[in-house]
Amino acid sequence: MARYQIAWLPGDGIGVEVMDATRIVLNRLQFDAAYLPGDIGWEFWCREGDAFPQRTIDLLKRVDAALFGAITSKPVKSAEKELAPALQGRGHAYRSPIVRMRQLFDLYVCLRPCKAYAGNPLNFREGLDLVIFRENTEDLYAGVEFNPVPPELSDLLGQLSKPFSAFKDVPAGQYAISCKVNTRKGSERIVRAAFEFAQKNRRRKVTVIHKANVVRATDGLFLDTAREVAKEYPNIAMDDANIDAMCMWLLKNPFNYDVLVAPNLYGDIISDLCAQMVGGLGFGCSGNIGEKLAVFEPTHGSAPKHAGQNKCNPLATILAARMMLDWLGETEKAGRLESAVAEVIREGRVRTYDMGGRNTTTEMAAAVAAKL
Ligand code: NAI
Ligand code: MG
Repeated sequence: MARYQIAWLPGDGIGVEVMDATRIVLNRLQFDAAYLPGDIGWEFWCREGDAFPQRTIDLLKRVDAALFGAITSKPVKSAEKELAPALQGRGHAYRSPIVRMRQLFDLYVCLRPCKAYAGNPLNFREGLDLVIFRENTEDLYAGVEFNPVPPELSDLLGQLSKPFSAFKDVPAGQYAISCKVNTRKGSERIVRAAFEFAQKNRRRKVTVIHKANVVRATDGLFLDTAREVAKEYPNIAMDDANIDAMCMWLLKNPFNYDVLVAPNLYGDIISDLCAQMVGGLGFGCSGNIGEKLAVFEPTHGSAPKHAGQNKCNPLATILAARMMLDWLGETEKAGRLESAVAEVIREGRVRTYDMGGRNTTTEMAAAVAAKL
């Protein structure tokens, strides 16, 4: 039996192509794994009314790790229309399989390294090397949402919250509520993960991102918790910034930052900003990490307009595979893979369209494999 059981979840659109390309590289590395294909994505929603079928959940329960491509998601109303006719009107509600997977398996760390590999024509600044820790299970993604708002809830809010009186005359159906729910436990474990990483990797500083001056209850809790955790790591500097200011400072003085930690939504926003600084979606890789399972993926989506053309950049997925190797303890292979990617980028002979080149997805993967 192979040493590792890896769930292989290509998903939709270019997810399939970038995963095929990544397999070329993993095979060349002689990574001792059995790849177990799993069903996820739009196709399964249309056919079965579930984008993340139970059999895929069961698969994830028995593997060492998973690699995931990308899926297509659509708003609830248009999703219903694309269901198989026999399934329509039967109460199937579309839910993002990724958010579900993160919550179901308690994959509370979303780890997103953003490194500018030398010679990438898309680098905002050479030498950037930021690491983002995004909380992955709560905050505005908790799924506690109301539209329409039930009258019991609006009555209760009217009694408990003074600011809510500003909305008391808004007719039912004319407003919606999404609850931001943050726990001390959830805040503590993501901040601790960031500091542990900083300590292990000799990073100098952790910056806590929030909006605690306005969103006092939840972001206040996050920031207070972060300050407590920081006391346990006296050798690592901690600072904090509001999410809005952070976006500005990151562009102005990116080298002032090192490890960033944030609640779910701010972490999502800052991830795209940082990914763009080191080459954009073709380079953004990510790990959803829990105590027992970790699922690695490129941060980009299924890019339907490019699907089936073998033209997108597989490096984000290849770098996600590198993260997976690292997490499994295969650090030698992870290091070799990263060096191979860095060399291909530095040489600049093979470039996909996003890098201004004309090479295919497969050619990029083959170029990386050839360096291994
Ligand atoms: P997207 O990330 O799929 O693509 C946006 C654009 O970025 C593409 O049109 C393309 O120009 C570029 N791009 C993306 N990946 C690239 C790559 N590997 N190489 C070169 N260029 C690349 O985002 P979009 O178009 O907003 O969403 C498409 C679908 O993907 C939607 O259904 C969305 O819900 C879903 N999505 C899924 C995600 C996931 O599976 N984790 C994340 C983001 C979006
Ligand atoms: Mg995102």
